[in-house]
Amino acid sequence: MSILITNIKQLIQVRDVNTTILKGSEMKELPILENAYIYMEHDTIIEYGLMEDHYSIDAETVIDATGKIVLPSWCDSHTHIVYAGDRTSEFVDRINGLSYADIANKGGGILNSAKKLQETSEEELYQQSVKRLNDLIAMGTGAVEIKTGYGLTVEAELKMLRVIKRMKQESLAIIIPTLLAAHAIPEEYHSNKQEYIKYITDELIPKAAELNITNYVDVFCEEGYFDINDTEAILEAGNKYNLRPKIHVNQFNIVGGIALGVKHNALSVDHLEEINDDDIEALKGSETISVALPGCSYFLSIPYTQGRKIIDAGLPLAIATDYNPGSSPSGNMNFVVSAACVKMRLTPEEAINAATVNGAYAMGISNMYGSITRGKKANLIITKPMNHYSEIPYAFAHNPVEQVIINGQVLVK
Ligand code: NIG
Ligand code: FE
Repeated sequence: MSILITNIKQLIQVRDVNTTILKGSEMKELPILENAYIYMEHDTIIEYGLMEDHYSIDAETVIDATGKIVLPSWCDSHTHIVYAGDRTSEFVDRINGLSYADIANKGGGILNSAKKLQETSEEELYQQSVKRLNDLIAMGTGAVEIKTGYGLTVEAELKMLRVIKRMKQESLAIIIPTLLAAHAIPEEYHSNKQEYIKYITDELIPKAAELNITNYVDVFCEEGYFDINDTEAILEAGNKYNLRPKIHVNQFNIVGGIALGVKHNALSVDHLEEINDDDIEALKGSETISVALPGCSYFLSIPYTQGRKIIDAGLPLAIATDYNPGSSPSGNMNFVVSAACVKMRLTPEEAINAATVNGAYAMGISNMYGSITRGKKANLIITKPMNHYSEIPYAFAHNPVEQVIINGQVLVK
């Protein structure tokens, strides 16, 4: 199978093979070719260049992209798309004045989703989840991280992992599974949190590791959920099974989770709606990337992560959807790119870098995904006709995506 795309108005994010993360001012640059072509065989980018440069390539499929932009498909490094049902009633409760914490305190929130998931069959959970996956692929996402965390029991967490494994086997998109081992404390453990931590470290993590599906462990490190000591115990248990941390920190409160993540060589620290200078200092010189989730800030009406401050400190930043039923029920990366510009004051170049190369880094796959590079995977978006890539964030809530190519297959909308 070979595909040639011709007459591309702007081919963007053209990088050399060594670019796997962009930090600070490097994020300002977005290399592009104007009036270009790109040629792929099977799932691999083989060649690209300017239309005016002589080329003769016979391809099985030729796509004329006159007036359109081609870019790497979005790399969404933080989602929870395996869940059952929805939480629309809590959404209405929040409109009527309850906070996210109020809802959680009366047994809603994550515990509500866990109850629904435990009661849902594996097949039904798969069907609901794969629909979400297909919807986000149609919006231009080609690589996606999916967390567990709505199980809260070994049995239900393993069910989630099996669903993610099946999605990974059956979908064209690249899926990176993460064991969100500690997401909330079940009601029956409220008076004995330590026992639940022990259940996670001694039973859940070893059994999940046995399935050999995931390389990452996550904890919701937050007041009322898992504190610094709990988080450290869980990260240490994960480390015994070579699970690298990708953790939820600083969503509502600063409790020292960023420095802890860096200490344990986390691949990413995610949320960071709250951040102070010590957090920024802790991140400097580390291999840990910050991941902002502007859809969550929008939906919960909480502060947006200070992406400008993070980038201006010379650090790398990725952006992701956090697609989940409670704090961000949307998998639209186009919206996330726009919100990063409008609300976090990223330039379009920085936002696109955060959603492609750096998103891939936050999943550990930027050697193969997130940029247009000979030898990397052919995961591309072909946009609707537009004059400039800045229209992607500018025309917020529009769908800029016309076609997607994932692992060398064209998905026609
Ligand atoms: O990333 N903050 C923790 N976890 C999810 C939300 C979970 C939920 O409300 O269902 C998040 O925002
Ligand atoms: Fe999350």
